[in-house]
Amino acid sequence: MFILSACKDFGEPLTTLPGPTPGSSLRTYQNDILPIILQYGCFSCHGGNGGLYITSIAEILRGGDHGPAIIPGNANASLIIQKISPAPPFGDRMPQGGPYLPDSTVQIFRDWINQGAN
Ligand code: HEC
Repeated sequence: MFILSACKDFGEPLTTLPGPTPGSSLRTYQNDILPIILQYGCFSCHGGNGGLYITSIAEILRGGDHGPAIIPGNANASLIIQKISPAPPFGDRMPQGGPYLPDSTVQIFRDWINQGAN
């Protein structure tokens, strides 16, 4: 709970961090999230053999055993954020077995969800 509230406090200021070019900071699944998912090997466990699929926005919205993995506009309430952060509410931190996403990469997920998850 401490971690979630700490992240919440950082939510606003971080959106003003400089991006590659002005106006390019709008995060999208295709440009920002998919490369991270590929880099961290999420598909090897969530790409086509039961349970949660994260191969498209629609699948992420449909979610897994615990319901939708994201709530667009609300990163704090989104399961995928809780699962890639330390101390998830159930089970293991993702990706299971690590290596885990650094805070700056988790922030990209947070921005994407808070911007509407497009
Ligand atoms: C080595 C296999 C493995 C990898 C890699 C992996 N996961 Fe998982 N994931 C699991 C297993 C097993 C569960 C169910 C048990 C649990 O929640 O710990 C799970 C559960 C989840 C859940 C909760 C689904 C639900 O509704 O219960 C989310 C969200 C999730 N993973 C996201 C991710 C993301 C994002 C990545 C990549 C950063 C990732 N996982 C990488 C195996 C994996």
